[in-house]
Amino acid sequence: MTDTAIPDDEDAARAEVERLSAQLHAANTAYHGADAPEISDADYDGLKARFASLLARHPGLAPDDNPLEAIGAPAADGFGKVLHRVPMLSLSNAFSDEDVSDFVDQIARFLSLPREQIAFVAEPKIDGVSLALRYEGGQLVEAATRGDGTEGENVTANARTIGEIPDRLTGQVPEVFEVRGEVYVAHADFDALNAEQERVGAKVYANPRNFAAGSLRQLDAGVTAARPLRFFAYAWGAVSALPSETHWGVLEALGAWGFRVNPQSFRAVDLDSLLAHYREILHNRPDLEYDIDGVVYKVDRLDLQARLGFRSNNPRWAIAHKFPAELATTILEGIDIQVGRTGALSPVARLKPVTVGGVVVSNATLHNEDYIAGVNASGAPIRQGGALRIGDTVEIYRAGDVIPKVRDIDLTRPRGETGFTFPETCPVCGSPAPREPGEAVRRCTGQLVCAAQVVEQLKHFVSRAALDIEGLGTRQIEAMFADGLIAEPADIFTLARRQATGEIDLYRRDEKGRETNARSVENLFAAIEARRTPDLSRLVFALGIRHVGETSARLLARHYLTWTAFWQAMTAAGEDPAARDDLLSIDGVGAVMADAVIAFFANDEGRDVLSRLMEEVTPADAEAPQTEGSAFAGKTMVFTGTLSRMSRAEAKARAEALGAKVSGSVSAKTDILVAGENAGSKRRKAEELGVRVMSEDEWLEDIG
Ligand code: IVH
Repeated sequence: MTDTAIPDDEDAARAEVERLSAQLHAANTAYHGADAPEISDADYDGLKARFASLLARHPGLAPDDNPLEAIGAPAADGFGKVLHRVPMLSLSNAFSDEDVSDFVDQIARFLSLPREQIAFVAEPKIDGVSLALRYEGGQLVEAATRGDGTEGENVTANARTIGEIPDRLTGQVPEVFEVRGEVYVAHADFDALNAEQERVGAKVYANPRNFAAGSLRQLDAGVTAARPLRFFAYAWGAVSALPSETHWGVLEALGAWGFRVNPQSFRAVDLDSLLAHYREILHNRPDLEYDIDGVVYKVDRLDLQARLGFRSNNPRWAIAHKFPAELATTILEGIDIQVGRTGALSPVARLKPVTVGGVVVSNATLHNEDYIAGVNASGAPIRQGGALRIGDTVEIYRAGDVIPKVRDIDLTRPRGETGFTFPETCPVCGSPAPREPGEAVRRCTGQLVCAAQVVEQLKHFVSRAALDIEGLGTRQIEAMFADGLIAEPADIFTLARRQATGEIDLYRRDEKGRETNARSVENLFAAIEARRTPDLSRLVFALGIRHVGETSARLLARHYLTWTAFWQAMTAAGEDPAARDDLLSIDGVGAVMADAVIAFFANDEGRDVLSRLMEEVTPADAEAPQTEGSAFAGKTMVFTGTLSRMSRAEAKARAEALGAKVSGSVSAKTDILVAGENAGSKRRKAEELGVRVMSEDEWLEDIG
């Protein structure tokens, strides 16, 4: 059925879309219900491919309850979850030689070692999807995707179908060894596949990376087996033992055990050879059989890696040196203004669609008013062409996964005719949108009366790093908000109740009165119920307070431990300087963030919204910093003077890992001061206050 041509005639297409939609919904329900699937997986995939092609040709025919995107669609809830014993982090990026040099310097400083004593391994950064493979007794027992870094999806059956992933390792392998690496698709395989898709009139895949990700996350391992997936090993997670003391040595072991390790990997002893290797890989890039988007540098010695440890989201011992962005030229067709969660008015370029770095781009950020005018904050020109005009030919670029940007106006082409005046009021709610002094951004002052801000807050509230409500994504939030079903976070938690009392109706029915989305609605209610006791840190992040990101939310939760304590302290902090000082005593909380949090809790309407939310949810208390086994857990520490055996940064990281809070200044709340050489005023103050003072050697002895 997939090889008949897609009808151009809209009526014919509509009839087929309706028929396939009903069949796919029925198949989805059967798959998820207790009953056995009614059609074979191959037939199901055939239906799906045909349906997708119809919609690709006739986008206007997409039904509201699109079975390929149904709430709780198969791919979202079909896999078991795997908790990563060692989190799967991402890498920080370097974009220039200078960034790399800074990276090497920082490491040398952190370790108090000369640069020459630190060797690195450089590896191509494969543009695919990461996968963790757990081997026990040399046998593959579990495979998991990265997910949010803490929890991934169990894709063991799928991983077993990939030829380059050994089921059994050869040679001497530790009892437990979790190998990490990248699943990818080679160019030649990808092109051949797309040619075939085109021939049968099926969906053409956007790029090898998305194709690899989609293939790995097939509920039917049979589909994965038919896809030409490959695998490079480059890292590890939980292990019972390591085969070497260096990263290079482990790579060699991985090779000996049966994995493919990237042949372009290289051990470098200094910055110059790292950079030379980068240029060589960049030069070879067009001839490689697969996509890479940079070179990863990793400290070679594993004991140094351990000392360097991690920041909240990435290791200190590694960095990704990204390749320069790809460029394309296209026409600026218009400028839209979007209103964000905090009211910022963001101009977005509407572009004539163009391919950049393998992705079709039709929007690009224009940052702010000044950027459109072609000046920086002090009024100096930032590009040759001056102010942007609609109709201009513009150069756009895209670096990796970063949002596309406009680089300059192509002055060799005729200029556009229409200038652009930036609005001074919010295009959504009409409230004034002034610029704060010294800021480039205009902000809508409408807050809770601004539909755009409210809807963005709601999207943020349910997003993955916040409450993470499965099946409630951007599109569902927009639709429910537009339908008047939700206007604030509490409303999400009353949906099921309101459905039960008949106040609202989320069910859709076919002409015979049968509910067509019953499964989706039930899945959604279950996903919401599962979030009634959110972690305090997630909840604090979900509130969308300005300047409070994931890391800051975690700091706040760890400090106040309960919602009640947090709420009371923030309410008090408006008037009570001691409460404000306590907030500021948290390492990582500065005055800007503190004032934003205090302002958030001082707003009456905002407090009402919060009170209503708290009638629906019961935040789980945060964990007090671990108290077992460490004499420093929960203690407030200050480091001062020159430390001789490690840098201040390493000392701080070690203390925090032991559960201590590290502060920059001595006060009555300080428990311990570690004084290095030439400690001055802080030491005197500590002594006056009767704070315990330790030398560097005493502290090192205590922590072993
Ligand atoms: S190391 C703790 N090495 O890049 C860091 N990652 O932004 C572990 N990637 O999620 C990652 N090639 O999917 C590492 N040679 C390589 C890599 C590589 C590609 C991906 C990986 C990771 C992302 C980090």
